[in-house]
Amino acid sequence: MRSYKAKMVEPIELPSREEREAAIEEAGYNVFNLDARDVYIDLLTDSGTGTMSADQWAAMIRGDEAYAGSRSFNNLADAVRDVMGFEYVVPTHQGRGAENVLYGVLLEEGDVIPNNSHFDTTRAHIVNQGAEPVDCPSPASRDPNSNESFKGNFDIDAGYALVEEVGADSIPVVVLTITNNSVAGQPVSMANIRATAEFARDIDAMFVIDACRFAENAHFIKQHEAGYEDTSVAEIAREQFEHADAITMSGKKDALVNIGGFAAMRDETVFEHAKQRAILFEGFPTYGGLSGRDIEAMAVGLREAVTPPYVHERVEQVGELGDMLSERDVPVYLPTGGHAVYLDAGEIFSHIPKEHFPGQVLVCALYREGGVRGVELGEFAFPGADRPDLVRLALPRRTYSREHLEHIAETAEAVMESAHEYDGLEIVEEPPMKELRHFSAKLEPVSE
Ligand SMILES: Cc1ncc(COP(=O)(O)O)c(C=O)c1O
Repeated sequence: MRSYKAKMVEPIELPSREEREAAIEEAGYNVFNLDARDVYIDLLTDSGTGTMSADQWAAMIRGDEAYAGSRSFNNLADAVRDVMGFEYVVPTHQGRGAENVLYGVLLEEGDVIPNNSHFDTTRAHIVNQGAEPVDCPSPASRDPNSNESFKGNFDIDAGYALVEEVGADSIPVVVLTITNNSVAGQPVSMANIRATAEFARDIDAMFVIDACRFAENAHFIKQHEAGYEDTSVAEIAREQFEHADAITMSGKKDALVNIGGFAAMRDETVFEHAKQRAILFEGFPTYGGLSGRDIEAMAVGLREAVTPPYVHERVEQVGELGDMLSERDVPVYLPTGGHAVYLDAGEIFSHIPKEHFPGQVLVCALYREGGVRGVELGEFAFPGADRPDLVRLALPRRTYSREHLEHIAETAEAVMESAHEYDGLEIVEEPPMKELRHFSAKLEPVSE
């Protein structure tokens, strides 16, 4: 049962099979090129695509649009203090804005930055400062079939191996991403958060948390980490941040808004520098590129994210989709993460070689079969990275119903049943930056 009902609806329509066939061909077999109105169920991302509450909409009306010193900023600062425990906050237009502001202050050319796994914008902003991002994912993350609870953890041994290699002086910052989006949305345990903080302290580095999905992570700790069964999600959420010096946050995830983000920190000097950088790239530091109403909605959303039963229902719904798929023998990454289910396209299309993009074949097949849009996170998105060919189905928050989930599962089952009929794809047009090709490249079925 859900603890909310719909107050506003948006019509969606499943185009006919012929229309879907034509649309995907027209889009060059790349679902980023589809018109959203041609998509029936949109699982491209959970970022900024969710449904706001009546309280958030009401807060938008109260938005204070003052250029400087707005009441809405004070409400956000209060929410960040109460929910996350940080004294200083710099609003930004979204998560990558916060990365630009904070890493521009903290990093220098030649630095090396370990993270359990960098999200692509985090990686790009670290590289943009002339520093080198290094992933230190838990070895457990490599097995998609084990049911371990905290596969998103930071590998502390890998962190120390990096220190041996480059020296502690090269590592001014250690980052931890909760949950770990690049590793199938897997959570990080409180024990690992503490251990990563100790590692950072030991090498005299700052400890930064990428907090996008902090409430989902807190939920997993409550469910699976001994000693937290009776602790509230709100208390766990705050404890996660106790040892962190700063955070970057995309409000489009666990602040339950369609746009917005912020950086928050404890150190006043870092705050002062971050404000100057925010003026340069985002806007005056009490609006950060957002309208007052966006900031109000984010302040309310942050509090809602840790108020029961929101996040329990949210993560359970993602798990429910994972179960529906597993029951139909669709291979999924286990256990199901916090915001998405990841399908193993390499296994479904074992007859299609990696260079012909089995993940992208699955993305197109899900669209053709049921108007479902997911995203490829394998050879097409990460050329030559030697990653499994996964397809991510990310659920927008508070948006789809069980019937929609059933449609997704039935669509994937139908694709599985006719998997042998699918051929691979080849790229016929791609942008100059290969790393960004999955957003705009065009493909065609491989010719014999
Ligand atoms: C872990 C993580 N960090 C940072 C970001 C960047 O946030 P935004 O898209 O709001 O710029 C994202 C977005 O998906 C993310 O998942």
